[in-house]
Amino acid sequence: MKFKIAVLPGDGVGPDVVMEAQRVLDEVAKRFGHSFEYSTGHIGGAAIDKTGEALPGATLALCRKSDAVLLGAVGGPKWDDPRAKVRPEDGLLAIRKELGLFANLRPVKMFKVLEDSTSLKPEVVRNVDMLVIRELTGGLYFGKPKKRWTTAGGRRAVDSMSYTEQEIERIVRVGFELAMARRRKLTSVDKANVLESSRLWRTVAAEVHANYPDVELENMLVDACAMRLIQKPTYFDVVVTENTFGDILTDEASMLAGSMGMLPSASLAEVPRAGVKSFGMYEPIHGSAPKRAGLNMANPIATILTSAMMLRYSMALEAEAQAVEKAVLDALVAGYRTYDIMEDGKTKVGTWEMGDVIARAIEA
Ligand code: IPM
Ligand code: MG
Repeated sequence: MKFKIAVLPGDGVGPDVVMEAQRVLDEVAKRFGHSFEYSTGHIGGAAIDKTGEALPGATLALCRKSDAVLLGAVGGPKWDDPRAKVRPEDGLLAIRKELGLFANLRPVKMFKVLEDSTSLKPEVVRNVDMLVIRELTGGLYFGKPKKRWTTAGGRRAVDSMSYTEQEIERIVRVGFELAMARRRKLTSVDKANVLESSRLWRTVAAEVHANYPDVELENMLVDACAMRLIQKPTYFDVVVTENTFGDILTDEASMLAGSMGMLPSASLAEVPRAGVKSFGMYEPIHGSAPKRAGLNMANPIATILTSAMMLRYSMALEAEAQAVEKAVLDALVAGYRTYDIMEDGKTKVGTWEMGDVIARAIEA
């Protein structure tokens, strides 16, 4: 089959890791007889330097006529001035919003071979296998008012955590649907003891639950969830939560998989269904790590696993997605490690060697 992929490498290590994901995709194309047509667009700091905008119209247009978007990372010290009018991150937020990508799927899975490379005890992280669903186009990131101004008493700033029932309903539904295909347990995370938006969230979650009697729904406060995640992470199956909570909890959860460099994500505009192609944007959860950029250091596995999610959700190529996941496992079992997951007795490799080993392990 033929697919059009918009590739947005972005900043820092973004281009490094995206290149390896493409190398792996090329191998998938070869082995399984597909054709992937890539078109590159600018986003983030790279786009600001070229056009003055973090998300140029041409990039958005390119994404709209593609089957899927593969994104690296955005941001870096060069564009970090708090007084700057435009920031690389604005481009990422704008593309999520413009493409309606409200559902961000962040699977957290411990590879058994990495059990000893985490900063937690192996018996705590053993068998971790959860899916965090982060609401991506609402909440504090987008709520209005959002501004900074000067009052008689001094400077002041406000961000608003705002949610409509429709926004809550559609993301919680994604949670229930995906829980149905897993262990049928959904943990909805909020701060309902303090926040009004969380109380609405909890109410709507209970209403949607009526349509999914086979799924166990549990509400959990976000602070308790942060604790439980490292105390007993195997407790969780599917977690659904609002934008900011999901941002924070998934950085924490990435440590359960050994490294930020291991976690992929998919951002979708609808409930994913097996065998159905949904447009989506695919990015690793890690940032642009500017200090590691261009040094052949960054771990490309998150982005390679991200491309597996793209095969699964935007192309309905499940066997191909599993072939990529298996190739990653094979590379790890064979002892290859980037710096972030390195242990004694293993073979330390750089970004492109890791990409190469994984690409060569792809089997149809
Ligand atoms: C993420 C990142 C982004 C976010 C940043 C880069 C704006 O941290 O995807 O988790 O906060 O959503
Ligand atoms: Mg984040």
